[in-house]
Amino acid sequence: MHDSRRVLLIGSGGREHAIARRLTQSPRLERLWVTSQTHPGLLELGTPVDCPVHAREIYRLVSFCDRHAIDLVVIGPEDPLAEGFADALASNTRLVFGPTKQAAKLEADKAWAKQLMRSASIPTAESRTFTDPEKALAYVESREEPLVVKAAGLAKGKGVIVCSNTDEARDAVERIMKQRVFGDAGSTVIIEERLTGPEISVLALVDGRTICIMPPCQDHKRLLDNDRGPNTGGMGAFCPTPLATDDIMQRVEREILIPTVDALRREGITYRGVLYAGLMLTHAGPKVLEFNVRFGDPETQPLLARFRGDFLTLCEQTAAGRLADAEFTFDGRSACCVVLASAGYPDKPRTGDRIQGLDAVRNMDNVVIDFAGAARDEQGHIVTAGGRVMGITALGDTLESARSLAYEAAGRISFPGMQYRTDIASQATAGQRA
Ligand code: AMP
Ligand code: GLY
Repeated sequence: MHDSRRVLLIGSGGREHAIARRLTQSPRLERLWVTSQTHPGLLELGTPVDCPVHAREIYRLVSFCDRHAIDLVVIGPEDPLAEGFADALASNTRLVFGPTKQAAKLEADKAWAKQLMRSASIPTAESRTFTDPEKALAYVESREEPLVVKAAGLAKGKGVIVCSNTDEARDAVERIMKQRVFGDAGSTVIIEERLTGPEISVLALVDGRTICIMPPCQDHKRLLDNDRGPNTGGMGAFCPTPLATDDIMQRVEREILIPTVDALRREGITYRGVLYAGLMLTHAGPKVLEFNVRFGDPETQPLLARFRGDFLTLCEQTAAGRLADAEFTFDGRSACCVVLASAGYPDKPRTGDRIQGLDAVRNMDNVVIDFAGAARDEQGHIVTAGGRVMGITALGDTLESARSLAYEAAGRISFPGMQYRTDIASQATAGQRA
């Protein structure tokens, strides 16, 4: 029986490196293709595709998949999902892990997502949507409570401005809607009440019907310790988080995930892939800050470090609507990921800095390196090639031991201008010690 699979993985970050490692551990993998020509980790695990990977030339990727008899496509990032790659690449003989363009609006169109949440009474911040900057400004003037102003479209995770007062909110509307600092993503804004509480990320696999909730994670979006400095794509993450008690997880499933999938179905959308809920744990219970339609980065790195099972088969079961048959577990240990970023990140990441110490970390047990903005120079040395250069993820019997092992490994790596936070998971571990 032909049971081996030819798989294409789309994306080139730390998340995709972690996904590729799990795919290549499957005994059912025949061959893996990747869409990066430069990522040093992906190129060790897969073969780069020999065609452009753009929405406007999607037919080239479709023809690549046909030519190479690809059985399964796994889509990592949000942009290709929002551009309809899943719709274009799926066929009678090919499964796609990742939602359709229409379903991806849950992340790509925050105004639509808010409307969906409202229609299904899903707990989220009270909000209003505006397409006219003057009306948005008038609304801001009429409010007294602190507000959050969000560009409705995709803005690389940076389109959210949390404001402390009316001046800041006015300024946020001006920047997003008039100056268009996030481009067309800011033609519509959502202005919402500012919630307070700790944040968690809950990721679930969804096959259209069945929802399989994975262990809760926490990420750290700000550049500097103690949540200071600019927002980034994520400077570290850990899994599980002790903040998400069983009671909270049950509420998340019952009040948020199930009603969301049901509401999508009422819209005629069969959601298949990862549904990621960014949540704030408020006094009134968990509320949705945002939905993402993919694995989180860097949450995936600690999450998949704990995954035990056949990831390729799981992706296939999710894509085929057979999640009910899936068999997998998560390691009982904790995982902590520390991101090492380049000089100048996030504004102007410097590239070309040589990275030292990788072999010393590769020899450590219970530690993995997931590359992101890294490449090889002409001599074959691994150098910085983007903002978040790599994540170092460690497993430990406790979150404290995972965290200290991740930092021990991070301390062995060096490159000019390397930046990292020293407090990933520290609040959670302090809470556990107390
Ligand atoms: P988002 O991309 O929507 O998750 O927003 C990015 C970050 O902005 C979140 O991780 C929160 O820290 C913050 N944020 C978003 N919405 C709100 C809100 N309604 N109240 C308070 N903080 C928020
Ligand atoms: N870690 C946040 C995200 O993936 O959007």
